[in-house]
Amino acid sequence: MRLEIDGRGLSSEIEELARISEAPAPAVTRIVFTPADLQARAWLRVRCEEAGLAVRHDAIGNTFVRWDGADPALPAVGTGSHIDAIPNAGKYDGVVGVLGALEAIRALQRSGFRPRRSIELLVFTAEEPTRFGIGCIGSRMLSGALSAAAARDLKDRDGATVEEVRKTAGFAGELEEVKLPGTCYAAFVELHIEQGPLLEQRQIPLGIVTTIAAPASLCMTIEGSGGHAGGVLMPDRHDALCASAELILFLEHTALATGAIDTVATVGICDVFPGAVNSIPSRVRLSVDIRDTNLERRDGVIRELENAIPSIAAKRQVSIHSEFLNAEAPADCAPSVVEALSESCGKHALNFLPMVSRAYHDSLFMSRIAPTAMLFIPCHKGYSHRPDEYASPEDIVRGTLVLAETLAALAA
Ligand code: GLV
Ligand code: MN
Ligand code: MN
Repeated sequence: MRLEIDGRGLSSEIEELARISEAPAPAVTRIVFTPADLQARAWLRVRCEEAGLAVRHDAIGNTFVRWDGADPALPAVGTGSHIDAIPNAGKYDGVVGVLGALEAIRALQRSGFRPRRSIELLVFTAEEPTRFGIGCIGSRMLSGALSAAAARDLKDRDGATVEEVRKTAGFAGELEEVKLPGTCYAAFVELHIEQGPLLEQRQIPLGIVTTIAAPASLCMTIEGSGGHAGGVLMPDRHDALCASAELILFLEHTALATGAIDTVATVGICDVFPGAVNSIPSRVRLSVDIRDTNLERRDGVIRELENAIPSIAAKRQVSIHSEFLNAEAPADCAPSVVEALSESCGKHALNFLPMVSRAYHDSLFMSRIAPTAMLFIPCHKGYSHRPDEYASPEDIVRGTLVLAETLAALAA
């Protein structure tokens, strides 16, 4: 089998897809079920059909692109990622795992390889939590981690439910049918940019993920009392934003205090009400994201944060309400898929680094229904979720080549 990746074609597809965005270049914004997301899906469908692949989707909009194997009744080999993008993101997060997988399939087709198992490219709905506050909606539902009933009622900031927007976007059918049995996939492999600096710093072209960190997210609401920014004297204030600042700094301190580089904590949304320059903040909503590869350590940080609530609330004379949105366990990648990836690296004399993924991915949930592993390629300075995210064409080709080799081995 002679595998040749069309690097120029793949780069130009990545550029083309990046132009389908709500934000001006170089930023990419593609929020689930918005016109940009739907246009990107339609564009991708054409590329897949041009490759002679069968495309279908489920009720939540997960897309399945299938290359039938000689024995299509066997569990398939899955690959894929996402094409939604957070506000002001870059071109490569998720996209490399989707367009790279499509090119890997085309390279296998060109080589004359005929898989015994079908190979299926999955494009997951809403890996990013931007719209509905919870990430990986599509893969959570496929794996059963999110029930149809819970998904149906998730709301965006305008109060529109998943149920409404997915139907308006053209995805009909019953959400109950999205969950897949654990027998569909013999293996699942996701190609992704590292979203961290290690591969570039160590000049290693590939990373094979052995563990995906455990993310948890909370929503905190801080209620103080508002009033005139000139009229209310400083000793009389119950400023909800000042109380939030204490919470945020406490969280930062607690995450740092574990001493483990894998503990990370972020407050990425701070909604201030009423949001006027001359009005004391009376209410603040914070999104809190805490991750670790070690579940106990992560939960320890959450506990410390929650234990700090009464004293910060008392000191600031505000009320603080904390609500769990989700808390996942870390996923260990499957040794069989890790081995297939390392053998493929060996075949092409490529060095790799076994590593953990501190970002979460659809693979976190696919690992519940299929033996799963991930392949990382370097990205410049580890930048991700920002417009200057960059992966070199050479690194993308290398990742795609190893992915193709691995899909062939797993599907043979
Ligand atoms: C995925 O985008 C993450 O936030 O890890
Ligand atoms: Mn992302
Ligand atoms: Mn991603």
